[in-house]
Order: sequence, then structure tokens, then C-alpha cells
Amino acid sequence: MKKICLALIILLAAGSFVFASGQQGGSGGAAGGAQAPLIGLAMPETTVLRWVKDGASLKAEAEKRGYRAELQFGNGDQVLQNQQIGNLLTQGAKLLVIGQLNDGVASAVADAARDNVAVIAYDRIIQNSADYDYYITFNNFKVGQLQGQGIEAGLNLKSATAANPKYITLFAGSPTDGNAFFFYDGAMSILNPYVQSGALKVVGPYPETSKDTANFQRIATEGWLPNIAKTRMENLLSGDARSVTLDAVLAPNDTLARAIIEAVSADAKYTNKLPIVSGQDAEAASLAMIKNGQQYMTVFKDTAKLAEAAMILADQILKGVANPSVPGAVLASSIGLESIGDTGRKVVKAYLLDPINITQANWRDPINAGFITPEEVTANNLQ
Ligand code: GAL
Repeated sequence: MKKICLALIILLAAGSFVFASGQQGGSGGAAGGAQAPLIGLAMPETTVLRWVKDGASLKAEAEKRGYRAELQFGNGDQVLQNQQIGNLLTQGAKLLVIGQLNDGVASAVADAARDNVAVIAYDRIIQNSADYDYYITFNNFKVGQLQGQGIEAGLNLKSATAANPKYITLFAGSPTDGNAFFFYDGAMSILNPYVQSGALKVVGPYPETSKDTANFQRIATEGWLPNIAKTRMENLLSGDARSVTLDAVLAPNDTLARAIIEAVSADAKYTNKLPIVSGQDAEAASLAMIKNGQQYMTVFKDTAKLAEAAMILADQILKGVANPSVPGAVLASSIGLESIGDTGRKVVKAYLLDPINITQANWRDPINAGFITPEEVTANNLQ
């Protein structure tokens, strides 16, 4: 009983940052006294659970360093997020940490630049803007490689042949999200050689890379919305995939993976054997599906570490450090991935953290790292 009470207190304390509307995250905070500089935190949404965790961690890390922090969630609406950013500037924010929704954020970043307010693009690059200098995220190309390697291992592609090919269908993330292109290209850097040898056959649209814009748009999932992925999977099952048995589905994150698995599970053809399905974000519901074999893998991106790194970077920027360094993160330019920082208008300093592969062999790692809360463990039978 005591454990449940303690867990509820923790949850209520954390949840106080996210009101019902999901739009405000609260401001001030114990450590950030009334005169402390204000850091504005603009997160994209609360539908994909990781952003709630990002917001709470960013706020805590800012206050730990003596700043005030105001947390806002954009509810998937870039116009709303831009209004929230405007309000943060009006409140005198000295630095903004922005997890964008789409290119429309660039006008709000221009306003910040006009007010000499520094901006850190958080997890997602801010495209078509020359008005900021810093981006911090995970190595998203490696996230995709881990997804591709999961499918390679799950299908034992190294032993597959053109005479006895495996069948896959492809999904990508939102076309408004620069990460989605790196996830996809990372995965296909592993899978394309098998397609070219004939050992892996693609069912449905096949962009060899995200540069094949027309076909990439056909496999992309607007706004990362699970219902869009579910409907597209249902259409594939009754259409292009009607006369084959799929062995794998490339799913770019966990919410889409679970929607795809839901659609496939409703098709009698897959009652005894689901296709290998990839994922990302180490969400508790997906860890449960990895534990029971329904989802093959996910990628753990410890958002607590990303938030800590972002605040280490923010602190140095606010203190005027010319070339900030972030422990645990590498500059994209130092590992040949400078393109990750290319906004289309300039190349910003991109700091990359390492993602971690999660399969049935190590599904407890995100729990042991404290990323999954005790309430989530209980709710998803992850004991
Ligand atoms: C991406 C993010 C992923 C995934 C997706 C859905 O930009 O890097 O972790 O969660 O958004 O929000």
C-alpha cells in the first residue's frame, strides 16, 4: 500500500507540470527564484508519451541549475506552439528549447533571434531557418540502422536467398519531421543490399532512400498519428499484401508499431505468426509486446539524458561559452554526419547522443535506467 501511495505522490508531482489540456507545464519551481533567468521549454505534444518525460526532465534540469523554467506542450499544433513561444519571449525568456512540429516554427525562431534569445532545437531539427545555432538529439541515422539490423536479425536475412525471399512492407515517420528521413535512411542502409540481391522483397511503395520524395511521402505517417498507420496497414493487407505473407514491417516508432501490430493481428493469416515489427522510444506498452514476442525490437533513447545534455548546453550558451561541449554527446561534424545539422539555410552545431537497441534479450534495460516509472511497470505487467 505504501508503495502505491509513494508512486501516486511521484506521479502527481510529475503530472502537475502537464494540465488536462496538455498545454501548460507550469513555471517557476523551487530552485528558479523570481529573479533567475527564464528558460522557455516548448514541447510538441503529449500523444507520444516520451515528450511528457522530456518536458518534466528539461524543467527539472533547468531548475537544478538555478534557472526558472516554463514548460508548454503544443498539442500537435504548430500555430499553438508558435503562440506559446511568443508568450515565452514576452515573459523575457533568455533561451528557448524547442521540440518542433513542422517548418512553421521558423517564424517563431526568427522572433527569438530578433530579441537576441538563443534557441536550441531539441530532438528535431528546425528546418529552413538560419536564426539559431544549436541542435541536440540522438544519432537518428543510427536509430534507423538499429531498426534495420533488428529486421536483418529477426528474418535471418544473411541466410535468405532470392529463391526463397522474405517479404517486408515499409512505414516512415511524419514528413514534417527531419528525424523521420534519417531513421528511414539508416534502416534502408542495412536493408537495401538484401532488396538488391532479391533476398528481401518490398510489398508496397519502395523508396530506396528518403530522397525518392514521391514514394517516401507514400510510406510516411503524417504527424506520427497511429490511426493513419493502422488504416494504411489495413489497406495494405487487403491490397498490395493480399496475396503474400509479410515476414516484416519497418515501423519507425513504438506508437506506429503497436497500431500496425493491431491491424495485422486482426488478419487471420497472421494468427499464428506475426511479422517482425521494429520500433523506437522504448515505450512501456511496447516493452510488454517485446517481452511477449509481438514486437521485435525498439530503440531506447534515454530522454532524461537528452534533457540533461540540453541543459548542460543551455547553461554554457547563457554563460557565453564560445564552443560548448556536452559530456556523452558527440558533434555530428566530428563523425561525418554534419548533414544532421543542415537546416537547409545553414549548418548548425548538432550534438548527438547514442541510442540503445532493445530486444527480448534486454527489455528490462529502460526500466533499470529509471526511464519507465513504477506505475508504468505495474500498468503494463513489466514486473
Ligand atoms: C521523433 C522522435 C522519435 C519519435 C517521434 C514521435 O522526432 O525523435 O523519438 O518519438 O518523433 O514523436
